[in-house]
Amino acid sequence: MIKLTDVKKRFGDLEVLKGISITINDGEIYGIIGQSGAGKSTLLRCINGLESYDGGTITVDNELVSIADQQKLHLMQKKMGMIFQNFNLLNRLNVYDNVALPMKFWGMKTKTPEAKEKILGLLRLVGLEDKVDARPAELSGGQKQRVAIARALVLDPEILLCDEATSALDPAITRGILSLLQEINEKMGITIIVVTHQMEVVKQICQRVSFLKDGTVLAEGKPEELFIRPIKEVKTFLQEESGLLPEKGVNIQLFFTDKSSDPIITMMARELGIDFSICWGKLEDFRSNVFGSLVINVDEKDKEKVLDYLTAENVAWEVL
Ligand SMILES: Nc1ncnc2c1ncn2[C@@H]1O[C@H](COP(=O)(O)OP(=O)(O)O)[C@@H](O)[C@H]1O
Ligand SMILES: [Mg+2]
Repeated sequence: MIKLTDVKKRFGDLEVLKGISITINDGEIYGIIGQSGAGKSTLLRCINGLESYDGGTITVDNELVSIADQQKLHLMQKKMGMIFQNFNLLNRLNVYDNVALPMKFWGMKTKTPEAKEKILGLLRLVGLEDKVDARPAELSGGQKQRVAIARALVLDPEILLCDEATSALDPAITRGILSLLQEINEKMGITIIVVTHQMEVVKQICQRVSFLKDGTVLAEGKPEELFIRPIKEVKTFLQEESGLLPEKGVNIQLFFTDKSSDPIITMMARELGIDFSICWGKLEDFRSNVFGSLVINVDEKDKEKVLDYLTAENVAWEVL
């Protein structure tokens, strides 16, 4: 378990983390989303001790992450693999030696039969066994990130930290990398923290997510909760406005947890014998589920009837 309690960090006069408290459970894929400059990378670097912090505590499996004891910190860092937006591969080394690099740092032999088995096994996992001897320059962006993932796993970490790992990749390649991360999470039981500014990433793989803005967590929860019923700041981040709603009548937003809720609207119109217009709507995929939201406009005189109906049918709603 990774536990952050009131974590604070400043660079000179700039307070970058303003008291962050989050708990990430073992085996979870946890997202941290926010705009550029929100403090996401700094937070990730504090978690693995690449950066010190000024207040609060960070513990990994109940052990304090602190730069005070360098030896202990190195052992903790061994538990945490990390991948980056720009892959950070060494161009002069081939794929095999890039993956082997962390072993070298730890003084391990990299060409023994066991080491070979390990490294080739990881390259098989990421789908690059045929690129063992290739140089990074000969690989596509997606392949480079796969090498980086193999390298991040070579010391058998318990945690994988991903800093904008798919931000330099196009959508199809991104989906492939995210599926791979999901497979690693499921097969190897590795806890994954995904830092991103892309909502698609969070929607596809995160089980829980924090929305970070100016060094503060403004919202935390399941992605579907955060994105289907966003708070104002998240809406702004998503650049999502429900557009201009009618000034006449009452605007009611409905929240659906799966597609099957759609007929409720037509049923309601029929059963209550009322007219309304649909002003705005969206459906979103979250892992295997579909969630949606709809804004309807009804006459003032029908308002109570409609709200009673929705409540009776267990549809969440909000009058806008
Ligand atoms: N080493 C540093 N020295 C000074 N300021 C920094 C340093 N690293 C990051 N910052 C500042 O901290 C803020 C948060 O940066 P960062 O954690 O990289 O955000 P994000 O990853 O969300 O884009 C930014 O304003 C950035 O300029
Ligand atoms: Mg960043």
